[in-house]
Amino acid sequence: MYPTPQFIIYIFPLSLRQEAIPLEGPKMSRSGKSPEDTKHPRGMKRTRSGTDIAPFVEDYRPYTSGILQRYLLHKHQDDHKTHWDFYYKQNTVNGYKDRHYILREFVELGAAIKKAESSKGEGDQFSWMEAGCGVGNAFLPIFSEYGHLPEWEHMLGFDISSVAVGLLEKKIDALDNKCLQQKVKLIPLDPCEVEVHTSPLFKEVEPVQFVSMVFVLCSIPVEKHELVLRRVAACMKKGGVFFFRDYAVSDHAEERFRNRKESNPLAAVKSDNNTFTRTNGTLSHFFSVEEVTALFTKVGFEVVQVGEVEREVQNTKLNLNLERKFVQGRFVLKE
Ligand SMILES: C[S@@+](CC[C@H](N)C(=O)[O-])C[C@H]1O[C@@H](n2cnc3c(N)ncnc32)[C@H](O)[C@@H]1O
Repeated sequence: MYPTPQFIIYIFPLSLRQEAIPLEGPKMSRSGKSPEDTKHPRGMKRTRSGTDIAPFVEDYRPYTSGILQRYLLHKHQDDHKTHWDFYYKQNTVNGYKDRHYILREFVELGAAIKKAESSKGEGDQFSWMEAGCGVGNAFLPIFSEYGHLPEWEHMLGFDISSVAVGLLEKKIDALDNKCLQQKVKLIPLDPCEVEVHTSPLFKEVEPVQFVSMVFVLCSIPVEKHELVLRRVAACMKKGGVFFFRDYAVSDHAEERFRNRKESNPLAAVKSDNNTFTRTNGTLSHFFSVEEVTALFTKVGFEVVQVGEVEREVQNTKLNLNLERKFVQGRFVLKE
């Protein structure tokens, strides 16, 4: 929904002529009726002869110079944080299951851990950053088991939801292991809005070797994907590896969204060909392998491996086994 002309006037009071739309409260007309009683269209001005005319707008810049689009994009980001905060208030740490496949699939991280295990503190140091860490379902099972290795320097995480970060901090405190606790740094942050590498997350912290982003980019507007990846890449060492996993176009959920949209256009608002709004307000974009490859290549990565993976996932609520399809890839940041 676009803001009404009145709304624009309050943001840009100097750009419109004063008499365009009355700013003071309703006045009574001579007939004793308030202007609302006469029900003339919103934003229109009534002349003495009783005809409605459109307000005179001297300066159309709010509509033509992208200010309105920028306003709408910012509004979306504010709403986006609110939706995720609400999600985590409702589900706390129980929204997602631990992702036990990460170490198996993130081959380079697995190799670094193995090497560190055998090098007894003499090996190369490494750090891992989880972008959109939520409540830690991707990194915490691995970090709890191997975070004590002296080669593992830092475990960093950021998320748009301050509620998620707060819950995750409590989980880390509950680890009851000072050595692990000291290595973890978390911050509520939205890379659509700010740089990550100059944020307090990287205060006295070197760029990282490993990054993961698991089911995060799908909920960021498509027009921000490149910016977000650039900002995450700026936190990495050259030669570092990025692990990506997200929904694929041919996934079962994408079909469901499409069907829901056909039966009830209000239920799932499609904002581009493959992006839908979930009923809880968060976005869900479905990726093709080509799209992910093009995105990472443009930002300066080389493909190690990328493709669709199929998994049978149990939906306990519906008591069903569902075939889910994801796009998964590993990408090296070029020298
Ligand atoms: C499906 S959850 C996945 C969480 C975690 N990566 C995992 O594997 O369990 C998606 C996460 O992305 C976060 N997120 C969504 N948009 C974000 C943004 N613009 N910046 C940072 N985090 C974001 C959400 O708050 C949420 O925690």
